[in-house]
Amino acid sequence: MIEFKNVSFSYNTVNIDGETIPVDGLKDFNLTVNKGELLVLTGSSGCGKTTVTRLINGLIPHYYKGEIRGSVTLNGENISEKPIYETAAHVGSVFQNPRSQFFNVNTTDEIAFAAENRKTDPAVIKERIADTAKIMGIEKLLNRNIFELSGGEKQIIACAGINVLSPEIVVLDEPSSNLDIAVIEKLKEVLALWKTQGKTIIIAEHRLYFLRELADRMRIL
Ligand SMILES: Nc1ncnc2c1ncn2[C@@H]1O[C@H](COP(=O)(O)OP(=O)(O)OP(=O)(O)O)[C@@H](O)[C@H]1O
Ligand SMILES: [Mg+2]
Repeated sequence: MIEFKNVSFSYNTVNIDGETIPVDGLKDFNLTVNKGELLVLTGSSGCGKTTVTRLINGLIPHYYKGEIRGSVTLNGENISEKPIYETAAHVGSVFQNPRSQFFNVNTTDEIAFAAENRKTDPAVIKERIADTAKIMGIEKLLNRNIFELSGGEKQIIACAGINVLSPEIVVLDEPSSNLDIAVIEKLKEVLALWKTQGKTIIIAEHRLYFLRELADRMRIL
């Protein structure tokens, strides 16, 4: 279970004079996400959807610095007090800009990367990659140069890596933003599969039509 209790966060930004200026990212936010739930976060640009996803995967406060008030807990433990690698064992992330999330040049290496970091047995990883490629219909994207893929293909590679890692929670920030209608259908199938596996899924999105049958709850910020 993920719980936000009276959470406010302001980003520390630096102006041209080098002074630190706080920028409100989220204010007095409360939310409970139950295990196995698919929750959609929506609302106008700048309302704080991405900020909520960063508070769940620990990028706030471990990467994005600022002032945090209230508490964000994962199964009762405060996410900001846990090292980010511990949170990453439970929470997989698909970012809005897929370019910002890759560590490898080869697509297959990237799909394996998160699971390798969890010391998953190489034979199991191989098997899961083959299964994932089949389920997601991405055999043609294996062993390619990641920088030569389209934005949508990169997004799908990020989802494939999560499928191999198989974390209990997945946060996705505007996963459909680079995808055409056919690939959105594929994303839908992957989300449906994760749902049947009992994963907790949090999606920040403007585009809602493809989530209508999948969402358990929608939260407008
Ligand atoms: N890295 C950052 N540094 C400073 N301020 C930030 C940063 N990221 C977000 N903000 C600010 O926090 C507020 C919430 O932004 P956030 O990105 O969470 O909104 P959003 O709902 O995801 O918007 P969008 O729909 O456009 O993606 C905005 O006012 C934004 O300017
Ligand atoms: Mg956003």
